[in-house]
Amino acid sequence: MRALLLGGGNMGRAIGAALTARGDTIVAMLGRDAATTDPASLAPVDIAFEFTHADAILADTRFAAAAGTRVLVVGTSGWAGDQRLRDAVASVATDAGLRVIVGPTFSVATVLFTSIAVEAARRFGRFRDFDPYVFEHHRRTKPDRPSGTAIAIAEAMLPHLHSKRQARLPEGDGAPDPETLEVIALRAGASPGMHVVGFDAPGESIELRVTARDRSAYVAGALLAADTALADPDLPAGLISFAELLDRATTDH
Ligand SMILES: NC(=O)c1ccc[n+]([C@@H]2O[C@H](COP(=O)([O-])OP(=O)(O)OC[C@H]3O[C@@H](n4cnc5c(N)ncnc54)[C@H](OP(=O)(O)O)[C@@H]3O)[C@@H](O)[C@H]2O)c1
Repeated sequence: MRALLLGGGNMGRAIGAALTARGDTIVAMLGRDAATTDPASLAPVDIAFEFTHADAILADTRFAAAAGTRVLVVGTSGWAGDQRLRDAVASVATDAGLRVIVGPTFSVATVLFTSIAVEAARRFGRFRDFDPYVFEHHRRTKPDRPSGTAIAIAEAMLPHLHSKRQARLPEGDGAPDPETLEVIALRAGASPGMHVVGFDAPGESIELRVTARDRSAYVAGALLAADTALADPDLPAGLISFAELLDRATTDH
């Protein structure tokens, strides 16, 4: 297959190595120099991967469309809440007949874990005795907290938790607000990402945990997203989340 890499950082290089190892052709790996490259000169492109910065996503989507790309996988984070940008990217994709797979994480385990956490919230959330919590651990150098994944997990659980009305990092040193789902973020060492969802009752407790070992999990998920989308003729053009794509692939319809 002919593959285009938009972003030549850690993820771009790791995806490039994985594509080369399985025999795909890299037509280009572009960073900020995409602006000076003629996309038509790279056509056709089967799969493209965008791992850069939120500022570059729209231009990169236009670039991928102009290169005749069939499936674009966008892993860049930091734009989930920007509805105008999402609409603009979706509009470019729909006009070009381009399928764009987006995900705050391409870790298959983490995406499926979120569904399991929501199911656990549905089952335990009605019992006030089972007090829920979300806990995450990332490397000391991660600039933000809590992780986008922890926020997504907590927000997806919240509607099913009868005793909680908000989810957030706890503040201060006083007694906790019983109606807050506490999201605890630990920053230490080199962990590439660990998330725990727990329910603690007086006489018993349950914990669900997902741990990323290194970025190879994100690389594998990004390739899986591209291959799955390419193999699905019924997938419409426009934006589709990696979670939805996995849902289509892992449930009987
Ligand atoms: N969804 C997932 O599973 C997942 C997993 C890992 C990372 N990510 C996200 O993917 C993105 C890239 O991660 P990374 O680890 O590869 O980062 P990185 O090593 O810092 O590389 C970033 C790349 O993007 C380019 N870039 C940065 N700002 C740009 C801009 N304004 N316009 C065009 N290109 C720009 C950089 O070009 P220069 O070298 O020229 O600066 C570089 O090639 C981040 O948003 C990260 O959070 C997502």
